[in-house]
Amino acid sequence: MHLSPENPIGVFDSGVGGLTVVRALMERLPFENILYFGDTARVPYGVKSVETIAHYTTQISQFLLERRVKLLIIACNTMAAVSAQVVRDLSPVPVLDVIEAGAITALNASSTKRIGVIGTPTTINSNAYGRAIHHHSQDARITSQACALFVPLVEEGWLEHPVTRLTAQEYLRPVVAEKVDTLVLGCTHYPLLKPLLQDVAGPGIALVDSAEAMADQTAHLLSELTLHNVSRLAPEYHFFVTDVPLRFQTIGERFLGRSLSNVHVVKW
Ligand code: DGL
Repeated sequence: MHLSPENPIGVFDSGVGGLTVVRALMERLPFENILYFGDTARVPYGVKSVETIAHYTTQISQFLLERRVKLLIIACNTMAAVSAQVVRDLSPVPVLDVIEAGAITALNASSTKRIGVIGTPTTINSNAYGRAIHHHSQDARITSQACALFVPLVEEGWLEHPVTRLTAQEYLRPVVAEKVDTLVLGCTHYPLLKPLLQDVAGPGIALVDSAEAMADQTAHLLSELTLHNVSRLAPEYHFFVTDVPLRFQTIGERFLGRSLSNVHVVKW
């Protein structure tokens, strides 16, 4: 397959959350065209079975590949945790996923190699972060915690709400007790809770935002493959969703930190 630098980067997620990755990409790589796919009709994935997630992931990857993306980015931690290999097996273009990016960044940030990971139940049960971190450093000690309530709280916009703070205190207590010095925000939604989580975790714990790590890794890969878009025209951004786009648009603007246009509904 011939890859051209003007071709877009394909980014996908179970819904709106992957826009945290798009935001980081827009900031880091301001001339890249981006196609984003958010499966808003079937979100959340974080509580679904591995088989179901693999099936949805295949459909989405094929959709983006038909639109000639030069690179696929799995922005959803849950999809990356249980079906990254499915995407790699079917894709003729390079595939990046947030878990590998987050794992490497966590190891670079940690001096004690005591690392905490928080994510959806499916991500945590898969132990994908544990495997990715141990692949690079066998003596790392990992403490994981599923935080099922964070996704709905973020979608509700309760980024600083007392309920969210109490929930975070509850979830983080056992992680902090393990004396981790680094905490991986292993879910698309968690970067929006960064100030609150930092406050609850305390200043001695470095938070790893996998969206930023992903943007760095993408920049690095594009340089390696000489696939940076050299055009200095304003890039094109298109957003594909599977449900009526109203909610995606409203919440999406919060995730993206700017207004959102070119939203298209995909009917499957
Ligand atoms: N995008 C998912 C993740 O990063 C969170 C939302 C969901 O459960 O689908 O794990």
